[in-house]
Amino acid sequence: MARPPSDHSESNRTMNNQAVLNHPLVQHHLSVLRDKNTPPQLFRTQIHLISMLIAAEATKDLKLQDCRIQTPIEETSGRKLSQRISIVPILRAGLGLVDPILQLLPEAEVWHLGMYRDEATALPVEYYCKLPKDSPADVGIVLDPMLATGGSIRVAIAALKRWGVPDIRVISVIASEDGIAALNAEHPDVSVYVGAVDPVLNANKFIVPGLGDAGDRMFNTRHA
Ligand code: PRP
Repeated sequence: MARPPSDHSESNRTMNNQAVLNHPLVQHHLSVLRDKNTPPQLFRTQIHLISMLIAAEATKDLKLQDCRIQTPIEETSGRKLSQRISIVPILRAGLGLVDPILQLLPEAEVWHLGMYRDEATALPVEYYCKLPKDSPADVGIVLDPMLATGGSIRVAIAALKRWGVPDIRVISVIASEDGIAALNAEHPDVSVYVGAVDPVLNANKFIVPGLGDAGDRMFNTRHA
């Protein structure tokens, strides 16, 4: 029988530069997401909710600058985000995280990366990359709900580093222990925020127990 997903007793388990969100709402919505009977519309909703919850943790140290605001009553001081932030969804499944993160970071830039995993080798194949060559953002946030071998996200991080982004973070929904370890080994400077870390990858490099193929479940292409 497959081992259960890790059960972390702390509210958020933070190790090195990774955080596993053990918030009850994340765990609740993740359980709905994992259920094979969850239909595409609800699957997209769960991805949306979990992304927002993880994003709250992943953005908790963004820089602010003071500002003045006129309320309906009087003028007062406030604080607004001061950094140039880029979010980088990995097609296809990363698209499901774009709207929720843009709701929280409405002024963020969105740069898409297209990648799929070769079924024979499980290695990422890049088919679209329009990242600029200069004027890097201050913060780059890679979005992909799945971190299996970590190959796709590692390639995305390398692209952000070539662009010159000094502060790179990853928001993912579910990861494997091996994928996290490989990512940490190659990019120890990158912070990773996930909803759960599952224990193993199967022979096809799928996360176990996982949630299946996020892209297919999100876009209702399981039977194609
Ligand atoms: C899935 C997933 C990640 C990648 C994870 O994409 O969305 O991008 O695989 O695997 P890795 O960590 O081993 O690289 P997939 O190749 O299924 O493409 P899709 O999103 O277009 O369905």
